[in-house]
Amino acid sequence: MYAVAPAPANPLFGRGLLSIEELTPAELSWLVRLARYLKAAPSHEHRSLLRGRTLALLFEKPSLRTRVSFEVAMQQLGGQTLFAAGGEFLIGTRETPEDAAHVLSRYVDAIVIRTHAHEPLVQFARASSVPVINGLSAAAHPCQALADVLTIEERFGSLAGLTITYLGDARNNVAYSLAQASVMLGARVHFGAPNSHRPSEAMLAALNALGESSGGTARAFADPVRAARGADVLYTDVWTSMGEERYRERNDAMLRPYAVTDALLGYAQPHAIFMHCLPAHRGEEVSADVIDGAKSAVFDQAENRMHAQKALLVALLTDAKGMPQ
Ligand code: CP
Ligand code: NVA
Repeated sequence: MYAVAPAPANPLFGRGLLSIEELTPAELSWLVRLARYLKAAPSHEHRSLLRGRTLALLFEKPSLRTRVSFEVAMQQLGGQTLFAAGGEFLIGTRETPEDAAHVLSRYVDAIVIRTHAHEPLVQFARASSVPVINGLSAAAHPCQALADVLTIEERFGSLAGLTITYLGDARNNVAYSLAQASVMLGARVHFGAPNSHRPSEAMLAALNALGESSGGTARAFADPVRAARGADVLYTDVWTSMGEERYRERNDAMLRPYAVTDALLGYAQPHAIFMHCLPAHRGEEVSADVIDGAKSAVFDQAENRMHAQKALLVALLTDAKGMPQ
């Protein structure tokens, strides 16, 4: 177990993160505060915080940002990583998720998993005695959402009262995690999607319940203009997520009216920003003039993956002593 005893001030110590809704709004706000603090600090300043700690990165799907940003985050905090991809690690194939979790918990201090179905990840995390972080599953991408709300906070000071519009496949991992984090911090989330790709009524009700204490709300619109009108943030993601390739043709046809173009951006606030988790497909979900234009925040967002994950690692693996509370 860990050499450092948990401080009561750090309620995230020893926990994992599979989904944003596991956090309270106060814990989420604290993670963002911590990320801003770590981002502002010189990168050598915290290089002994995770000395001697190992983070395993076990990825069943490709990744650029998640893998590299976790590796650099661990290096900057003095720890190390090991990476296994594809055939070397497929959760629940060679052995049960529980057996794999018991074994890995004996070797490493925390585990990031990128996988297809969410349920085996939950089984794995339940059996693990070290923190397990969801590096993307079909249901959630919480690390992306941490970076997203960090980026929005940097631009606008706070999410409270902002309108954040997500256009396209509003049933995917990125949409759900972004919406959960945004309503928890008091934003109005608008989904712009056809009926086939809009969140279920149960999901919308869950989001509105999640936002209740901070005033956050969620609504779905079939009309992309109504969704985008007056927005502070326009956000989109690929129309077809990894593992969903069999639906590509159908998605391309149905989601075309929800592409983020300059014309659609014109309905948002004059100060609105464009966001995308990347990788992006210019000419599909977003036009080149938008993603490469002055309102695009996508590379700040990508950079913030590393700062947000540093905060998460410090919160899960240390007593966070000396950090802002
Ligand atoms: N946004 C994101 O998760 O990127 P990668 O798939 O490259 O990790
Ligand atoms: N929704 C996308 C996000 C990629 C970072 C996917 O799951 O492929």
